[in-house]
Amino acid sequence: MFKEIRILESDESAAVEAAKMFEEYANYFVENLGQFNVALAGGGTPKQMHQHLSKYNLDWAKIHILFSDERYVPPTASNSNFFLAYDSLLKNIDIPNQNIHPIQSLGISAQESAFLYEKTIARLNKNLELDAIFLGIGPDGHTASIFPNSQVINSDYYIEAIHDSPKLPKTRISFTLKLLNNARNIVFLASGESKAKAVEDILKKDLALPANLVRPPDGNLFWLLDKHAAKYL
Ligand code: 6PG
Repeated sequence: MFKEIRILESDESAAVEAAKMFEEYANYFVENLGQFNVALAGGGTPKQMHQHLSKYNLDWAKIHILFSDERYVPPTASNSNFFLAYDSLLKNIDIPNQNIHPIQSLGISAQESAFLYEKTIARLNKNLELDAIFLGIGPDGHTASIFPNSQVINSDYYIEAIHDSPKLPKTRISFTLKLLNNARNIVFLASGESKAKAVEDILKKDLALPANLVRPPDGNLFWLLDKHAAKYL
């Protein structure tokens, strides 16, 4: 595994760096494999990255958008990760609808949705090896919807339904470490002082928090931080 930490001056410059990495990966995988299969991070941090990405001239017809986790709320809810990505990126780019793969969060159980999403990913890559996965971290060191001391940490599945998330809503569908560590490229994006302690615990103290268990053995691992999130490094 290749690992690199990049510390940027501001949340804005960190977001631009993440958007540029997306662009580089997209151009590389489209050119070499004919398609780019990428999962977006949930939460609020990716908004700036997505807004920059909206302005890039990418071959969106060959890019497939997935989601590293989803809150079990309707896709029109303001806290839906799909809605957050739609509002900051998807509505602003010329991408075919069939290239957007939301995690179903309505009309079926979270367990059924997890099962179906694994099949969705397998249709894009039979080995469930995604080209790039973008992730955020919470102040407690969680990533996607994998929280400290969660049973999901040792899951042998690629996608899991979570019913006890300490971060509301309680019910979510999430990539597992098995899927994350199967990726070709992982990019964490963390900004702001609220993430500084988690970043220190992970990148300096090497504590076994969920985000620190993301170590794709055959992949590349990047941490993009602004100087506030990196203040204790
Ligand atoms: C979620 C996210 C979660 C998020 C972190 C950071 O659905 O909540 O996937 O892992 O990335 O909690 O969230 P913020 O970017 O909003 O700080």
